Amino acid sequence: MCGIVGAVRRSEPVLSALIEGLRVLEYRGYDSAGVAVHTGEEVLLCKKQGRLANLEAALAASSFAAGSAGIGHTRWATHGPPSDANAHPHLAGGGQLAMVHNGIIENHQDLRVQLLEKGVEFASQTDSEVLAHLFAVEFAAADGDARAALRAALAQVDGYYAVAFLLSTESGPAIICARQGPPLVVAQGPGGTYLGSDLLALLPHSSDVVFLEDGDIGVLTADGFELFDADGNPVERAPKEIDWDPTEANKGPWPHHMLKEIHEQPDVLARTVFDRMDEQAGDVVLPGLEDEALRSVQRVQVVACGTALHAGWVTRYAIEELARVPVDVEFASEFRYRNPVLVEDTLALALTQSGETADTLAATRLCRELGARVLAICNVQGASQVREADHVIMTHAGPEIGVASTKAFTAQVAAGILLAIRLGRANGALSAERAREVLHGLRSLRFQMEQLLTREKCEHMRSVARNHAAAKGFLFIGRGINFPIALEGALKLKEISYVHAEGYAAGEMKHGPIALIDPGMTIVSVNAPSPLADKMRSNVEQVQARGGVVFSVGSDQATHDLARDVCSVPPTLEILSPLLNVIPLQLFSYYIADQRGCDIDKPRNLAKSVTVE
Ligand code: M6R
Repeated sequence: MCGIVGAVRRSEPVLSALIEGLRVLEYRGYDSAGVAVHTGEEVLLCKKQGRLANLEAALAASSFAAGSAGIGHTRWATHGPPSDANAHPHLAGGGQLAMVHNGIIENHQDLRVQLLEKGVEFASQTDSEVLAHLFAVEFAAADGDARAALRAALAQVDGYYAVAFLLSTESGPAIICARQGPPLVVAQGPGGTYLGSDLLALLPHSSDVVFLEDGDIGVLTADGFELFDADGNPVERAPKEIDWDPTEANKGPWPHHMLKEIHEQPDVLARTVFDRMDEQAGDVVLPGLEDEALRSVQRVQVVACGTALHAGWVTRYAIEELARVPVDVEFASEFRYRNPVLVEDTLALALTQSGETADTLAATRLCRELGARVLAICNVQGASQVREADHVIMTHAGPEIGVASTKAFTAQVAAGILLAIRLGRANGALSAERAREVLHGLRSLRFQMEQLLTREKCEHMRSVARNHAAAKGFLFIGRGINFPIALEGALKLKEISYVHAEGYAAGEMKHGPIALIDPGMTIVSVNAPSPLADKMRSNVEQVQARGGVVFSVGSDQATHDLARDVCSVPPTLEILSPLLNVIPLQLFSYYIADQRGCDIDKPRNLAKSVTVE
């Protein structure tokens, strides 16, 4: 949460690079934005509450002079409400240096008291400003040794940070940065040196990026960067070549990133799955996950958050069905603070789009401490989760910018199904013939997804959404492998439309939730051709008999016949049906949010990656 950018250029003014970087990173937080630029003589600051557009307007109205070094920030507020004063950067050292921070300084109150006693004056209510002043005090004491000052300041801090300071050194303006928890990436471009909390900010300048490790300190000048480890020793971190095209992160002609990303799903599925399928052998090829690595797996422990957790739930059904290995699924945020018991030969499975979700990282670290190997299903190249895992299956969704996750979800589910096939083939539970049947179904899915995304289908979903946009609440119900799709449909709707929605296992309705049903409630039924289809149908009849308004998604015609609105999906295997059923639910949420006038790509109170607790 929060986006950080920085650049030290040889001669060109830095401001445009900072603003472009912030534009790419605005999905990381959009409560306020700010920049600080070093002119060579002084540090200029401009920061504004609200969206980046407010900052740009303020900059246009000011005489913000040229300078070739600067830092910028887009904020997701933790301590102190969104305001101009609480926006980053924060100045310290009599305005001689500026700082941006992502993370939480847990002992900020104690440190604030100590600094106040030294006569420091605070301009904001943030925890972050404490770090700015701490560094300034140490910098003054260290006789200009910025690295020594930063180490001394950070030694007093409890918490998590990606932090960058803009300051003067003997050789001119420079940036010094450090990481403990949230990510930081650096790159050398043709015109200078660049810093970002997310590699997307760096791609316009270089496709070779270097990720700081926890404890690292980086010093950026116009000529390059140096890294130092937690003990202060110079350290080389191998550059990672990123094959994303930076223009993929643009919205292009689409009104929203979310709609663009929903429509990318057929291609994302193909990129994630097709090259890994070996239909002749009835198997999939996952480097590092050959028979030897998987044969002994006795149990799988899924840890993830939000939408990624729902993909983990689908994966559970697939693994238990195809590989006959028991799977536990848990919120990473709960798992990490329990005293969990893992049996021998547990494979920990972390699903995460960003690879930087703090709870997922912590939960998988705990799994490793408990003796499990860690397999990550991740979308962002070089992310912490990728670097820390024993095995990785990359999803090839490309940059996902919409805060509501869509294409990353289907890619995670597809990767989970590949894993289930590989595990089943490795341990002998899955025949080549059955594997071929699933692979054949996967091969057809790209076209079937496209059928759900035609102009006509989208118009249909827009009108279905119109019929339900005023409902007072929504219950999404499903069974079996479509129960997690009910959870996902409800999450999508509430996060972008701000209406109350719950996902329920349909069989649980009579244990409480059916009491909610009245004509103001929409019930979204997610069904599939399965032995449970009859039971779903009778659940739908029961809510309909109590006045609930039904929207039926799936391929079961008898359930559709009961509903006010229908979205028919092409028939596929039950195990693959989540990959189709979720698409109308994504469109349903999108169009309801659109009709309610919500800010779809930047829903209130949210940010794309939850890198702090
Ligand atoms: O980057 P991750 O996949 O680890 O993120 C997990 C969740 O924060 C994320 O899926 C979140 O729930 C989305 N906003 C849902 O659309």
